[in-house]
Amino acid sequence: MASKFPTVSELVSEARRLYSQEFGQEEHPTVAVCAPGRVNLIGEHTDYNQGFVLPMALPLVTVVVGGPTSDLEVTVVTNSEDVDEPRRMCFNMHGDGSQLSPGKPAWANYVKGVMHHYRARPLPGFRAVIASSVPLGGGLSSSASLEVAFYTFLQQLNPDDGDKVSKALACQQAEHTHGGVPCGIMDQFVSVLGREGHALLIDCRSLKATLQPLEDPQLVILITNSNVKHSLTGSEYPTRRKQCEEAASVLGKDSLRDATMKDLEDKKDKLDDVTYRRARHVIEEIERTTQAADALKSRAYKEFGKLMVESHNSLRDLYEVSCKELDELVAAAMEVEGVFGSRMTGGGFGGCTVTLLQAPAVDKAILHIKERYSGTPTFYVTSPSEGARVLSLA
Ligand code: GLA
Repeated sequence: MASKFPTVSELVSEARRLYSQEFGQEEHPTVAVCAPGRVNLIGEHTDYNQGFVLPMALPLVTVVVGGPTSDLEVTVVTNSEDVDEPRRMCFNMHGDGSQLSPGKPAWANYVKGVMHHYRARPLPGFRAVIASSVPLGGGLSSSASLEVAFYTFLQQLNPDDGDKVSKALACQQAEHTHGGVPCGIMDQFVSVLGREGHALLIDCRSLKATLQPLEDPQLVILITNSNVKHSLTGSEYPTRRKQCEEAASVLGKDSLRDATMKDLEDKKDKLDDVTYRRARHVIEEIERTTQAADALKSRAYKEFGKLMVESHNSLRDLYEVSCKELDELVAAAMEVEGVFGSRMTGGGFGGCTVTLLQAPAVDKAILHIKERYSGTPTFYVTSPSEGARVLSLA
């Protein structure tokens, strides 16, 4: 059966309990916030090519509770059991700012990165506890949800101008400088701007987002975690980005967003085979994403599912970011009656697949995928959820 994940209020209770345990039974947080992880329905590796993406925010979230202190001491504690590093990080903000340089523990780099790029000064000292239901390294943007949750927390201590796009961009910067991944804008953007009952069509060039209703009781969005993470992720992502930039420059374009398949075919002999295939994936995937958004609007789920499978095949064969486990999960899902489409989601080389299917088929699909998959999968039955928000502690 599908995994039961803690609700937001269960995570808040857990974080409050940990807060009192860490800081004393008499001590209580004054602020609580959360920000979601995301699943991308289609539009993979298009965001850093200025293309379109179609993600939705998840009910899996990172919660931060805490409050300001009267000195410049910063103490942050995480509840994560996945980290085999110290779960507590402390420093004093007095000094030259070097306390915010990346270091150990690794999870704290996201916190430091967000503090570094936060858009209002000065920040007071504070205590905070993090509790998350987003699986780490599962391709559901656990790091973006932590960055955006932390940014939202800092907004309660010393408000910035409240501009949401600037907030997402600051969190993306934190990922670049402190998370070591030159990511696009998708994850942070949807974690800030996601809406319950909607997917978000993001134009990654203009940064304009359009809400796409996705609230059909007949439909389920099933996420399957392969529970594998191949070490390639770190080095392959920047390589893909470079290959895309190189292709755009050979085509004489600012980005692959501006290129058509005709442009690519005309210059085919100027590109090596690998670069050609990378560019072809991106150009076609951008097109697929706008088609998928139209299909969703008219509830043409079969058409949407077909585009999902084409996206997966292209990520596997042209962009080469899938892996045996993800291919197995997609193949197994597609064997089930009532499944519209399935694909890998996120950066690739492990992590999750996303499957769109008829609601009554979900139990059968889970059983079948479990039976066919060579590893041990985890399932999440999800629906589009709200972006980052302040929570009540009452
Ligand atoms: C990661 C990055 C995103 C995006 C996806 C691939 O999740 O953080 O910006 O590039 O990979 O679509």
